[in-house]
Amino acid sequence: MSEKTIALVTGANKGIGYEIAAGLGALGWSVGVGARDDERREAAVEKLRAGGAEAFGVPLDVTDDASVAAAAELVEERHGRLDVLVNNAGVTGGMPQNPTTVSIAAVRAAVETNVIGVIRVTNAMVPLLRRSASPRIVNMSSTVGSLARQTDPGTETGPLSAAYSPSKSMLNAVTVQYAKELHDTSILINAACPGYVATDLNGFQGVRTPEQGAAIAVRLATLPDDGPTGGFFEDAGVVPW
Ligand SMILES: NC(=O)c1ccc[n+]([C@@H]2O[C@H](COP(=O)([O-])OP(=O)(O)OC[C@H]3O[C@@H](n4cnc5c(N)ncnc54)[C@H](OP(=O)(O)O)[C@@H]3O)[C@@H](O)[C@H]2O)c1
Repeated sequence: MSEKTIALVTGANKGIGYEIAAGLGALGWSVGVGARDDERREAAVEKLRAGGAEAFGVPLDVTDDASVAAAAELVEERHGRLDVLVNNAGVTGGMPQNPTTVSIAAVRAAVETNVIGVIRVTNAMVPLLRRSASPRIVNMSSTVGSLARQTDPGTETGPLSAAYSPSKSMLNAVTVQYAKELHDTSILINAACPGYVATDLNGFQGVRTPEQGAAIAVRLATLPDDGPTGGFFEDAGVVPW
């Protein structure tokens, strides 16, 4: 088994996921670049390696059972275990998303990737994470999934988002359930919001850089053994549910 810390980041070919991979690579970790498109994945791996990171490609479509099972096999064969899983892959499902007119396809797409995809990947990787001394799982959520923020008249809540926001609320709820089941293990699992980041996801309207957005995930990926679990965090601290 490798002495290095082994991480897997889903949706790591671009945006925040790429920068999470770069951030973990900069720590000297071996980072699996989970991505569904061969060309985009290999380009990201090459770029990370050129920057000095130890990166390896992991073909991975989080919506596909066989792809996720194959990804777990690849990590097992290569490293024998997994230390850190960052569930970063996400989609909006397509905008606009006014509740009264949203397409069912948009809701389905958001939930399939942002919630079911996370469950699918996590459950495939848990056996490998259990072999780690300090396993961590980070779920990339969003403060638009915070019901407290969405209902706070003083908070900027963004556009109506009947598919994407509820999918992140559910992801938060799922994160809590995992933390409850795993409370007596060394696995720490938390949800993170990167802030409003300029990426493809929002047509590059965000105000933060992907590197800034990646910071909270890197922090939660490197929590000490007595760190929190079942929480929801942004750079400034705890996010209310
Ligand atoms: N940007 C923001 O302001 C913001 C705010 C809060 C939370 N977030 C969250 O941060 C995460 C990263 O978003 P981003 O802004 O970096 O978006 P992005 O640039 O659009 O990147 C999304 C990544 O997810 C991948 N992906 C989508 N569906 C996938 C699937 N079925 N299987 C595998 N990979 C898949 C994409 O791969 P392809 O290139 O193949 O499409 C891409 O690598 C998401 O979970 C998002 O919800 C973003």
